Amino acid sequence: MSPQNFSLDQLQAEDSHDFVTTYTPKGDASLATLQGILEHNREFFTAKIAERGVLLFRGFNSGSHQDFHSLVEHGMGMEPWNAFNMKKMPGFITSWLRQYSEKLVGGGDYRRYLDKDTVRLGPVEAAIQGPHTEGAIRSERSRYIALCCFEPAPYRAETGMADLHEAYKALPEALQAKYDRAWNRFYYRSARPLNWFDRLMLSFSPFDVIKRPDGRADLALPPCPSVCTVPETGNVCVQPWAFARNTNPQAHKAAQEVFTDRGELKPDSTAANMSLTWELCDESGTAVEWSEEEQQLLFATIYRKALLMEWQKGDIAFVDNVRIGHWRMNGEQGERKLVQIQATNFNAEPYHPSRLEQVST
Ligand SMILES: [Fe+2]
Repeated sequence: MSPQNFSLDQLQAEDSHDFVTTYTPKGDASLATLQGILEHNREFFTAKIAERGVLLFRGFNSGSHQDFHSLVEHGMGMEPWNAFNMKKMPGFITSWLRQYSEKLVGGGDYRRYLDKDTVRLGPVEAAIQGPHTEGAIRSERSRYIALCCFEPAPYRAETGMADLHEAYKALPEALQAKYDRAWNRFYYRSARPLNWFDRLMLSFSPFDVIKRPDGRADLALPPCPSVCTVPETGNVCVQPWAFARNTNPQAHKAAQEVFTDRGELKPDSTAANMSLTWELCDESGTAVEWSEEEQQLLFATIYRKALLMEWQKGDIAFVDNVRIGHWRMNGEQGERKLVQIQATNFNAEPYHPSRLEQVST
């Protein structure tokens, strides 16, 4: 028997949006064939993600979450890498840990791990999430995210996506200059005084634990870049992670300002419940003033660049998690099942413009 031919000719490609290329099958729509095509053309598709931003595979047969995992790992050859599960623990332990930490800091987004790498995303609300790149609360995050739609929502609940370089370019020059020098700094405040078990768990975490007089603690993360360049192109992209309580009213106002046809929009509950603060600081850790107007302008500028991805059953997307920001739109949950795998460890720190200057001078 001759080996099966897995060629790009088996796919129809269309640049369906400024930063999305959509691939549909010309004939065989099985996931096994798609996996073979990805595997035999990995370099092409990896370069294509950097060039385009998002690759969407549409019209293939839908499979299991294990099939999806196999496409990511064995098709694209990406190593799943999840900032919340760097120890690669089984899904049920990670889900428990996530619930535990959500209780400790007063909230969470109810995403659940189907295995150590594969996450079912949280339910839809009457709210629009703040824009973010996955894991941008820390310098170390995943370079790519893969998404698979097992069941679309009955009404709306799209994934908003935006080119963060285009958003950066649309900001006033003074703000661009500000973000070029700035670092994002995040800290949680524990919802209760820490007990011995909390302290033990936190000793394995990246948090710097600062005890407060009331027994509770501030859990601080090292600063991470406010903007980051795409390694392949050098394009500067803003790097938001708009799940903080202090920036949530501004994200809410920006959503109301831009998405005027979405009915009543509530503030995002994850950000409202979590005791998380997002500030800017400079290289030395000194706080940089960041007004509520500037925050709202950043979020509104990103929202104005939105593509609202209307998922179809079986859709699989590979997204450049440095260049493309995303967020969940409001809508009806129904049986919506959107599953995500984060892949390829990436450290944003050397790609902060100020660090690149140091390398080149
Ligand atoms: Fe997300």
